[in-house]
Order: sequence, then structure tokens, then C-alpha cells
Amino acid sequence: MSAFAPRVFSGVQPTGNLHLGNYLGAIRKFVALQESQDCIYCVVDLHAITAQLVHEDLKSQIRSITAAFLAAGIDPKRHIVFNQSRVSGHAELAWIFNCVARIGWMNRMTQFKEKAGKDRENASLGLLAYPSLMAADILLYRATHVPVGDDQKQHLELTRDIAIKFNNDFSERIAAAGVGTPVQMGEETVNGYFPITEPLIEGPATRVMSLKDGAKKMSKSDPSDLSRINLTDDADQIARKIKKAKTDPDALPSEPAGLAGRAEADNLVGIFAALSERSKADVLSEFGGRNFSEFKPALAELAVTSLGPVTGEMRRLLAEPAHIDAVLKDGGDRANEIAEQTMRDVKEIVGFLQ
Ligand code: TYM
Repeated sequence: MSAFAPRVFSGVQPTGNLHLGNYLGAIRKFVALQESQDCIYCVVDLHAITAQLVHEDLKSQIRSITAAFLAAGIDPKRHIVFNQSRVSGHAELAWIFNCVARIGWMNRMTQFKEKAGKDRENASLGLLAYPSLMAADILLYRATHVPVGDDQKQHLELTRDIAIKFNNDFSERIAAAGVGTPVQMGEETVNGYFPITEPLIEGPATRVMSLKDGAKKMSKSDPSDLSRINLTDDADQIARKIKKAKTDPDALPSEPAGLAGRAEADNLVGIFAALSERSKADVLSEFGGRNFSEFKPALAELAVTSLGPVTGEMRRLLAEPAHIDAVLKDGGDRANEIAEQTMRDVKEIVGFLQ
């Protein structure tokens, strides 16, 4: 096992409204982890400009994600909450990782292919190098665990590849600088500088799907607002969207195996399970044999009662931007202390004069 102190890092982009997928797949897990781990949660504003350079109001988007973190229950005093661009180490380490990672690795990223679309030549260089910045976010703090939704799995594999290549390519320099730590890499234990990060992708809501199409992920960028539940939706909107959600004509099965081939039913049951912190099997033992006309109102009520306190608190916090800004500044200062130490070590390992 690695000898790194356990540390959790994760990030959310300040682009568009947060939705139920972000909440169940990521933010709620951030909250749970803070009970047992040291956590750093970041609003990744440098990532936000990779797909679209000019944003109408990036500042209010950054505040809104921060408000969601706090409203969901993240404690910014015991842990660290900040926006990425405040800590210059992210961009500096990403540059070094751009020289570690290979272009072929980046070209294989499905998210790059999806976001760049047909006109790949015209995508920003930042969009191609995005996973290298993401690896820098995590490894700047030598984080060992990263809670994310399923869509980030490939990026986290690439983060591991970057750490492995850095540890291997610089193994002698790491030893000479006296900054190494035993790292388990496959069968071998080597003297490395970066941990081989573990993704935390678990539970019934790692991939919340669109309410309109069970084959598509719930996403900020879907043109149909009916496809997602936003964290800014009120009770009526939430209930209406669940009522209009696509389903099939059959009753719910009594066991999870009966959800195979029923993507929309599977998704709604998964949402119910995640919101009520139960397993899908448990939810189906209650609702098996019942129709959607009974299940949907129960789901709407559960969604409204679970999300209501969070959205209410978000609105209250957003009315006090000075408080949010102070949280981000304090978090940024504390993040920077850790980041500066890493950058001093990395510069020594790479061989820069400092
Ligand atoms: P982003 O901003 O797209 O999403 C934030 C988090 O929400 C999860 N998520 C979902 N989970 C379940 N179902 C869905 N439909 C769904 N949609 C989104 C995402 O998996 C993510 O955990 N590249 C990252 C941000 C990032 C990051 C990092 C994450 C930058 N640096 C370092 C972890 C560590 C992103 O774009 O997430």
C-alpha cells in the first residue's frame, strides 16, 4: 500500500446550472467523505474556459457552485473550498504534465472527442490538454482519493498514467531530492513522488441519465430543460419534470434484474435509491408491481423534500456574495500553502534552478 496520507480532492466546473447528476454523483459524496477524510473541493474555473472562452458571468457561476457546496453541507473551515485560478500551481504543474503526457493519450479521451465534435482542428489546445490540468489539480495536493461520477473515470485513469510516468522517469531524481515515498505500482513498490490516485465511483447514482432519454447522461448542456432537475428548480418544477419523465408502460419489477433493458425505469429507481440512501433492491421490494402513476408522485415528493433545504440554503448564501468570496479566499490561501510545497519539490525533481 502507498504511504501517502489519505487526502480527498474533487472539482466541479462553473459552467451552467448544477443538476441532480452533479449532486448525487459528486457533491453529496463530498459531504459524506468530509466526516472521515481531509478534503479539498475546488471550483475549477480554469477548466471552464477550455470549451468556451468568453462567459457571460463567470464570477456568479463560481459563486453559485461554491454556494451549492456549502448548502449541501461542506464545512469550509475543517476542509478547503476554493476556486482553481487563485492557486497558480494548478497551471504550473499542468504545464509540466503536458510534457509528461503523450498526445496519443489525449486524443483517446472520449470526452475530448465528444466536446470537440467533428471540427477537431478548431477545438482549443486547452480542451485537448484538459485531462493534464485535471491530473495537476489532483496531484498538486498529492490526493489519494477522488470522488466523481462515472463520466470522469477515463480522466482519472489518465491521472494515474501521468503519476506513474512521472514517478518512473524521475525515480533517481526523486530519490536524490529526498522527497520520495514508497508507492505501489502494480507488483512493485517504487520510490515515487505522486500517489496512484483511487477513483471513488460507487452507489446507485454514478451515472444519472436524462429524464427524456435513458440512453443519454443528464447534462448541463442538454438543450431540453425537461431532461434534468436543476438545483435551482422549485418544488413545482421538480414535480412537473418527474411527471413528464419518459417511462415505459410496464409496472416496476420486484428485483433489480427486472430493470435490464428498461433504461428509463432503471434511472428513476436509481434516483429514488440515491435520494433515500437505500439500495435499488430495497426500493423495488417496496414498489415492485406498482405503476409509474404511483411511483412518480412518491419520487417527486422525495426529490422535493431532499433538495428543498439545499436549494433554499443556496439562495440564501447567494444573497451574501461577500461571505462566499471570503470562503474562497481563505480556502485559496490554505490550498496555496500545500501547492507551493509540491511545486518546490517538483521543480527540484525536474531540475529547475530556484
Ligand atoms: P463536471 O463539472 O462536469 O461535473 C461535476 C461532477 O458531477 C459528476 N456528474 C455526474 N454524476 C452522475 N450523473 C451525471 N449525469 C453526472 N454529470 C456530472 C461528474 O462526474 C463530476 O464528478 N472534469 C471534471 C471537473 C474536474 C475534476 C478535477 C474532478 C476538474 N478537475 C479533479 C475531479 C478531480 C468535470 O468536468 O466535472
